[in-house]
Amino acid sequence: MNSLLVTGGAGFIGANFVRWLVDNTTCTVTVLDKLTYAGNKASLDGLPPERVKLVVGDICDRPLVDSLVGDCDAVVHFAAESHNDNSLTNPAPFVTTNLVGTFTLLEAVRAQGKRYHHISTDEVYGDLELDDPERFCELTPYNPSSPYSATKAGSDLLVRAWVRSFGVQATLSNCSNNYGPYQHIEKFIPRQITNVLTGRRPKLYGTGANVRDWIHVDDHNAAVWLILNQGRIGETYLIGADGEKNNREVVEEILRQLGQAPDAYDLVVDRPGHDLRYAIDSTKLRQELGWLPQYPCFSDGLTAPIAWYQANETWWREAKDATEATYALQGQ
Ligand code: NAD
Ligand code: TYD
Repeated sequence: MNSLLVTGGAGFIGANFVRWLVDNTTCTVTVLDKLTYAGNKASLDGLPPERVKLVVGDICDRPLVDSLVGDCDAVVHFAAESHNDNSLTNPAPFVTTNLVGTFTLLEAVRAQGKRYHHISTDEVYGDLELDDPERFCELTPYNPSSPYSATKAGSDLLVRAWVRSFGVQATLSNCSNNYGPYQHIEKFIPRQITNVLTGRRPKLYGTGANVRDWIHVDDHNAAVWLILNQGRIGETYLIGADGEKNNREVVEEILRQLGQAPDAYDLVVDRPGHDLRYAIDSTKLRQELGWLPQYPCFSDGLTAPIAWYQANETWWREAKDATEATYALQGQ
């Protein structure tokens, strides 16, 4: 795999993936990104131009997608509308980008016989009770709760159908919640870090009891590379690092690392339909492909990203006030 088309490569996980590829492989990368509010050109700053090229455009633009797919060995598809809260106030772009965009890419790789890897989320499986001993695995039935997770579930099913009906050479991965640098400050962890850094208090939805299964973004991306190169065609792999924490524990850890009192947060209005708990069993990925997380300890893994947000205020400052104003309208 020498040349990759990475959609959404100016977003959080995509930009970290491109950086990971530059550091760990000899691939050249074309990023296709629409630069929505969530995309940021600056996330690709400093990368060698002979290895990484940014094309600003829409994954729903079939002629553009066709020409870019023609020039690559494989497509890794990260681009999406990705924030649950936004999908509750305006679901339309989620349907267009996550469903029509995935369809457009699938038609292009089908026509040109190219390898395709589809990035998805554990949220397609719905949620678990706090005391459920079972975790999500590749055989868990789909049961999405929000417009975001429903459109991601639909996109996964399109990929599976294109594999079965048309023989498209695709793999899929469903990962748990990522943390790391370059994540938009609307998301939970960077929102709370930048709240503290701007003199605001962290905001916990409901009682803060909801559980997410946290993974460092580089562990996710190393797994994606492994699946792209060694995964079985047509297969789904769940990616998770046994990082379950409730939201209160996460905020307390951020407050601790930033030298604040452990209870210096506010409880705010809960998210409608808020999934209670996600938890991933990644046995298949570990046993079949030998993947292991390099950041097994959440609090250790969080230290460098916190320092990154402290050192890179110019990257997030402009979005902060507008993001908080939007949350304030929802009482959050
Ligand atoms: P993000 O919102 O940070 O980035 C999405 C990127 O896609 C942005 O750069 C945006 O400009 C681009 N984009 C949006 N619509 C586009 C379009 N129509 N055409 C081209 N580009 C477009 O998202 P993220 O958190 O980096 O998530 C990346 C992928 O990983 C998504 O598919 C998401 O569902 C999945 N995922 C995310 C997480 C997580 O914790 N963030 C966990 C599991 C899976
Ligand atoms: P989020 O980062 O939006 O990811 P997802 O909804 O895809 O899991 O939120 C992670 C968790 O944090 C989720 O349970 C909602 C909660 N949350 C808060 O408590 N406060 C916040 O300000 C935000 C943005 C999220």
